[in-house]
Amino acid sequence: MASYDLVVIGTGPGGYVCAIRAAQLGMKVAVVEKNATLGGTCLNVGCMPSKALLHASELFEEAGHSFAKMGIKVPTPEIDLPAMMNFKQQGIDGNVKGVEYLMKKNKIDVIQGKGKILGTGKVQVTANDGATQTVETKNIVIATGSDIARLKGIEIDEKRIVSSTGALSLDKVPSSLLVVGAGVIGLELGSVWRRLGAKVTVVEFLDRILPGMDGEIAKQFQRILEKQGFAFKLGAKVTGVDTSSATLSATIEPAAGGAAEKIEADVVLVAIGRVPYTDGLGLQEAGVVLDNRGRVQIDHHFATSVPGVYAIGDVVAGPMLAHKAEDEGVAVAEILGGQAGHVNYDVIPGVVYTTPEVASVGKTEDELKQAGTAYTVGKFPFTANGRSKVNQTTDGFVKILADAKTDRVLGAHIIGREAGEMIHEAAVLMEFGGSAEDLARTCHAHPTRSEAVKEAALAVGKRAIHM
Ligand code: FAD
Ligand code: NAI
Repeated sequence: MASYDLVVIGTGPGGYVCAIRAAQLGMKVAVVEKNATLGGTCLNVGCMPSKALLHASELFEEAGHSFAKMGIKVPTPEIDLPAMMNFKQQGIDGNVKGVEYLMKKNKIDVIQGKGKILGTGKVQVTANDGATQTVETKNIVIATGSDIARLKGIEIDEKRIVSSTGALSLDKVPSSLLVVGAGVIGLELGSVWRRLGAKVTVVEFLDRILPGMDGEIAKQFQRILEKQGFAFKLGAKVTGVDTSSATLSATIEPAAGGAAEKIEADVVLVAIGRVPYTDGLGLQEAGVVLDNRGRVQIDHHFATSVPGVYAIGDVVAGPMLAHKAEDEGVAVAEILGGQAGHVNYDVIPGVVYTTPEVASVGKTEDELKQAGTAYTVGKFPFTANGRSKVNQTTDGFVKILADAKTDRVLGAHIIGREAGEMIHEAAVLMEFGGSAEDLARTCHAHPTRSEAVKEAALAVGKRAIHM
């Protein structure tokens, strides 16, 4: 029987990163993966394919709408969807191969099959052909990720009624797409298909889009998306989809109750969140306790209720983000290696990769208000940023929230192109407990869009220069 220091179940960004860090610390490590490819949701049906399609569709839209005003004459661009899907697949394959290489480089054994925990120190793996083997290990990390959340009574066939997985692989551009849920997936994949020609309507249960993001940013984002052609039905829910005709007919009801209406669409995308994935792991028999939302319950050292069994990533509480899973993977490996592994949950950036991008780190204004924290706000619009003006990409603004007494930065929120790159200067600053003044006094290269971050920090002290 094979014997290890650590067996990681699942090879998403949480699992494979955990395995690498543990191997770096001298542990003998194996990963168990039920899928044919490594990399989990993120590499195969999540972050990577969605970003490939967002990139390609953004350039398609630019070529059709923005090139001419810059003096670039091109014929009206056409979509070659199979080629675009091939571009996406190349991106997936490249990243999956990268993880395979990293497993070899770090001498990590890859065991293909479905893992089941038999108790402390024992994992049973069932291969696709049904063959089973049991591996012995000092420690186990559960990194089995998450699965799509489903709507009662609406069956996802991944052809006409799709989850994100089907929406990443449609074989033609739908003339109309109905998105259920104005969260990250709905707005990112809605953007892809709108740019490629679909008429997109988003139905959201709450009275706002992107719950959890700063409310002011979300409001401006909704206005920008509407200008792009998105239609929103807020405070509404889809209660059924009639599939009997060539065109789908969805029943929409106000969330607060009232008369229903019908919306027709070629494709319905269900994007109402994700749920932890623990199927077949044998958690109940092994005595691993779940919380009231079906997530594996852990303490602040990622330990479950069973000695030697840990859990990280989407399968535990916290934002379902790849980088959060990675950081937890590193932290638990370091704890097992006798070090002080730690994740600072107050500084986990979140990015929506649309045009413009939305990026956020730390507290939102709504959260500060609710907590009764005295704060100051500095805002700076991209309309006043030189680089954005010359590029004619002036949508959006930067918002910095600082403690009213200490000036310590508590949150940063950006809507605008490249927001997902710019947010990290605020993240680094916050990791070091920096103030708005620190950020404002840091020399920023000119002309960059990041100067808007510096100006927003200056605006906290009411001394922005270009406004
Ligand atoms: P996962 O990546 O879900 O990996 C879990 C792995 O465990 C899977 O490979 C699964 O096959 C395997 N597994 C499960 N059970 C078993 C078992 N019993 N035995 C063996 N193997 C098992 N996050 C971002 O930060 N940025 C983004 O841009 C982003 N975009 C996304 C876009 C989409 C469309 C989706 C769906 C998600 C996106 N996410 C994004 C979220 C991100 O994918 C997840 O947060 C991340 O993948 C979680 O990592 P994980 O390691 O916890 O789990
Ligand atoms: P989400 O939680 O971001 O959004 C789901 C939305 O659906 C919410 O606004 C919610 O109010 C709404 N909703 C729930 N039930 C509904 C109903 N019955 N009718 C109408 N609306 C309903 O979830 P999403 O977009 O599915 O994404 C899942 C996870 O994947 C998220 O946690 C996200 O963090 C992650 N992800 C991250 C990305 C990124 O970082 N760029 C990209 C894509 C996904």
